[in-house]
Parts: sequence; C-alpha cells; structure tokens
Amino acid sequence: MDINMDESNFRQTQPVMFDGMALPPFPPLLQDAKKRFEEIRNMEYRMDDIILAIYPKSGTHWVWEIVCMLLKQKAEYSKEPKELFFLEAMADLSMVESMESPRALNTHLPHRLLPKQHIENGGKIVHVVRNPKDVCVSMYHHMKSSEEIGEIKDFETFYHTVFMNPNAKLMDGWFKYEKDFEQAEKNNTGGTIFSVHYESLKKNPITEISRLAEFLNINLKDQDIAEIADKCSFKKLKLANDTIKDHSILDIGEKSTGAKIKEFMFRKGEIGDWKNHFTVSMNEHFDAVFKEEMKDSNIRIQFE
Ligand code: A3P
Repeated sequence: MDINMDESNFRQTQPVMFDGMALPPFPPLLQDAKKRFEEIRNMEYRMDDIILAIYPKSGTHWVWEIVCMLLKQKAEYSKEPKELFFLEAMADLSMVESMESPRALNTHLPHRLLPKQHIENGGKIVHVVRNPKDVCVSMYHHMKSSEEIGEIKDFETFYHTVFMNPNAKLMDGWFKYEKDFEQAEKNNTGGTIFSVHYESLKKNPITEISRLAEFLNINLKDQDIAEIADKCSFKKLKLANDTIKDHSILDIGEKSTGAKIKEFMFRKGEIGDWKNHFTVSMNEHFDAVFKEEMKDSNIRIQFE
C-alpha cells in the first residue's frame, strides 16, 4: 500500500501553516491541508471506532499498540505500523473505509478538528498527557533524526525557535492543545474521552491498562492485562518494532521517512530525560510560561 511518504516531501524546511497551527510536512498536508482536514472532519462514523488523539511525542505508538491488543483480546503485536492508520499522514484517507471494525485510528490533530460525527455521537477518544518538558526533548530528537523541518541545531535553539515559538505552534502548541482537551472533557461535549498520563502508565501499567480496558468495555483476565503490559513495555515494544512490524507495508525506500520511523520512534522511553537537556535558565523560562498558561487548568503534570 502506497501511503506516499516520498522522501522529497519531507525535505521541506518550513512547517505547513494552517489555521494558526504549524503542521508536520506530511504529503497530504503539504498538498492541501484544508482538504485533508475537511475529509477527516467529515469522516463517516462507526459506533465502535476508537480515535487516539494525542499531542506528538506523548506516547501515541505505545498506547496505540495497547489499544490494538485490548481489541484483539490478546497480547499479540500488530504487524501493521501505527502510521498506516494516521489520519493526517495517510495518502488516501478513504482506506479507512475498508478497515474492519473496530477501528483504532490515530491523529495528532487538536480536539476541534476531530471527526464531527465521532464527537457528536459520543465516540470513544483515547488521550495521553505527557510532561511537556519530556515532550519537547522527545520532539527535538525526532526532528533532528527525521529532518522533517530541516536541520535542527542544538536543543536550546530548538526549544526557543520551534517548541516555544509563539508564531508557529505545532498543532496549536502543547498548552492550547491540552487545555482544549481539558475543556472538552469538562464540558462533556467532545466525544467520550479517556485520559491517561504517560508517567502513570509507565509507573503503573497494569492499573492504567485495566482502566483503559474498562473504558473500552473489554473484559480480560488480570493475567492477560499483565501480559499486554509486559509486551508493550519499552524494550519489548521497541524490539517488536524492529523485528515484527512490517514497515514495508508503507511502501518506502531505504532512506525514506518510513525506514526512519523504524529507527527512531522508540528512543529512550523514560520519565525525566528533560533533566539531561534543559539548562537552569531554560527550566526557569518554561516554568514561568507554564505557570501563566496553565493558571486556570486542573491538569497536574508529573514533572519529576
Ligand atoms: P522518547 O523520545 O522520550 O524516548 P509518540 O509515539 O507519540 O511519537 O511518542 C514517542 C515517545 O514515546 C518516545 O519518547 C518513545 O520512546 C516513547 N515510547 C514509545 N513506546 C514506549 C513504551 N513502551 N514505554 C515508554 N515510552 C515509550
């Protein structure tokens, strides 16, 4: 299946700008972001659809694999990479129509751009929140390896010119993205949302996966949940990504982004790597922005 992840399309140095957001330079967004967003917005709903709507670098691959195992009711890796069901990046969105139900779709789009029928019908949404300092570090390494937005210099430059850039906020920027999700949850107007913290999932995978199973109305024995937690632990999932996932399904060349996905998506998988990257002054700057931006929010980030 050709999802048209042609390398030349990823060698763009400027992000795509749309509706005030900076977007990753995925071919469908480069070609016509408005068209793709409308297609996603108008996607036909199935009542057992699950949409993973997660800010980039917050653990989407991890949770997608967990959801797939829960749906299969067994701890068996999917051969397909998550990118095959990535709404804003897949070459032909109509491919979702031929997917068997239940569909586990994934996106980094903000809440306001999610499929309308899914939202209106109370469709299930799985959301992950991660310490934004670790998100920033993870994104830095992703951008550096992928060269999606051109050459990335040092971490501090990335922090100021990309992650915290007020004029080109990736997917609305972390703050707005998470506050809008919080608001949607509060108003209960935005589908049915399950939220999990990356850090909680890492520390207590069995508890959090059980909670997710309950949200999805899936009844599994404790032993099955424990097996899913184990198979989706960082080392094992990284190994499965290298050895079991069929990245060739993305129809990619040796140096293409798909091959790189295989290479760098599973980097470290740890809590608190920001401490190895942030200087004292960057940390003070971030904490001040965070305090101001999140003053009316009840999201409690696990910063340790
Ligand atoms: P790091 O770069 O900090 O290692 P996404 O899938 O949304 O792009 O998120 C990628 C981040 O999730 C990467 O973070 C990746 O290593 C981490 N990740 C992937 N699988 C994981 C797992 N099983 N446990 C913990 N972290 C995981």
